[in-house]
Amino acid sequence: MRWIIDTDAGVDDAIAIGMACAHARGAAHTLLALTTVAGNVSLEKVNVNVGAVLDVFESDVLFFSGCAAPLVAPPQRAEDFHGADGLGDAGLSRTARRPQPEHAALALARLAERYAGEVGIITIGPLTNLALACHLSPRLPQHVRRLVVMGGAWQGFGNQTPAAEFNIAADPEAARIVFEHFDHIILLPWETALEQMMPFETLEHIAAQATPRARFFAAMTRVANTWRERLGWQGVPLPDPMAVAVALNPELIAASFFARVLVDLSGDVARGFTAMDRRTAHPNAQVVTLVNAPLAWQMIRDAWH
Ligand code: RIB
Ligand code: CA
Repeated sequence: MRWIIDTDAGVDDAIAIGMACAHARGAAHTLLALTTVAGNVSLEKVNVNVGAVLDVFESDVLFFSGCAAPLVAPPQRAEDFHGADGLGDAGLSRTARRPQPEHAALALARLAERYAGEVGIITIGPLTNLALACHLSPRLPQHVRRLVVMGGAWQGFGNQTPAAEFNIAADPEAARIVFEHFDHIILLPWETALEQMMPFETLEHIAAQATPRARFFAAMTRVANTWRERLGWQGVPLPDPMAVAVALNPELIAASFFARVLVDLSGDVARGFTAMDRRTAHPNAQVVTLVNAPLAWQMIRDAWH
């Protein structure tokens, strides 16, 4: 499988990208490219953060810059979670790397066609780029062998609004387009990460390793202490790393159900809500409700040592 990760590189995205750099480099999986989208922080900051992670993994993977704003909605950010720079305001957001000149949406369409049947896409940010790529290349869904989306809230437990998870809430129109174009999505919703947090002890164990990657990890994840103080969390939710873990190792999926996922576009309380229609004979997603979290944490530890 040749993977493309579409990211709005914040802290958990960076951990996920590191996992892919370390684990998707063999016969079974290769990291083909990264595409960037505005979300947690601005597109410019996302591009710097992706470059910084590729630097620390000494990766030669190319990345393509995408949409700086949602299709319709006003931009939303998550700097209160990820820091103003998107990597925990730890002085890590710097790189000499620059994105390729091709727009991310065009790169997604081109690479999916070039490697049709071998390409997997993992989205860990708003779905703006992928939605645009669907309109640029209507056959894109047929070219993509596997699509893993971190997003949505299967029990309606939102984090950006009472009803909506950030990646969907940030661009609901894009999410609707993606859920209408693909019928074989593996969805990693917010509650699954919330109900299976990484224990702080595990986080601290990874951070304590005496290597450049671990020092980067330690500096970046120090922001998680503010999540504990502010929200009383007894651990760290890591949705994007969970999405990469199940993409590379589907056997980590411990429980799931099939549904047609529908995105609400109303302008009121439910905007960005993801309804899970399990009555349908035409599901578009396998919704992951439980993962083998210890194995996912081991993948993170192995990548960031
Ligand atoms: O709701 C969690 C998602 O929003 C994650 O992808 C996190 O990085 C933020 O983008
Ligand atoms: Ca993200």
